Amino acid sequence: MLELRALHKTFHDPDGGHWVLADALDLVVERGQTVAVLGPSGSGKSTLLKMIAGLEAPDAGAIFFDGADLAGVPPERRGFALMFQDFALFPHLDVQDNVAFGLVEQGERRARARERARQMLAVFGLAAHAGHKVWKLSGGEQQRVALARALITAPRLLLLDEPFSALDAELRVGLREEFARRIAAAGITAVLVTHDETDARALAQRGFKLVAGRLQMLW
Ligand SMILES: Nc1ncnc2c1ncn2[C@@H]1O[C@H](COP(=O)(O)OP(=O)(O)OP(=O)(O)O)[C@@H](O)[C@H]1O
Ligand SMILES: [Mg+2]
Repeated sequence: MLELRALHKTFHDPDGGHWVLADALDLVVERGQTVAVLGPSGSGKSTLLKMIAGLEAPDAGAIFFDGADLAGVPPERRGFALMFQDFALFPHLDVQDNVAFGLVEQGERRARARERARQMLAVFGLAAHAGHKVWKLSGGEQQRVALARALITAPRLLLLDEPFSALDAELRVGLREEFARRIAAAGITAVLVTHDETDARALAQRGFKLVAGRLQMLW
């Protein structure tokens, strides 16, 4: 279970302006649940995910996972997977090595990591692409590879930042259903941020809107 308690985060710019992105923000995500956070551009969605991932520190407040306070725990020791909208894959690696990457990071031997990556790609219907450079794949295929890479490490929490925004409308429809199915099958706890309510409703059991640094419940 993920718990955000009274998070505060404000960015100041050199001209004296500031953006309040979190203002006593609370959120609880139960184990196995997907929660969506909606909000317009600049409302602080990506910043919220970065605080959960440990890439940005909150100004105040606390983040707990399964009861443990994550303050001071570096990103690589949180056991979370973060999937960004862009730059989701390493362009210099082939598809198989992209998927194997997290396992190698976890200390798995390369040959074994590649074998598991090929199995994962088969599950995702991407086996034929294992040896391809990632830039040869379509946008939708790239996002599926990115999800395979995130799930193969069995993360405690999956963080998704606008996973479909680079895709055209038709592709999104199929992909959001596939993602919903695969995340449910993995039984994983997830936080999705997006500006697209249809994406959010397809994936998340609960949805909130980020307004002036606080979450308003939508469903
Ligand atoms: N490290 C930083 N330093 C200063 N300002 C920042 C920093 N990171 C983000 N900001 C500012 O905070 C605001 C919120 O950024 P954030 O990326 O969280 O928004 P977002 O809701 O994800 O937007 P989008 O939908 O466009 O991705 C923006 O105005 C951004 O310029
Ligand atoms: Mg963003």
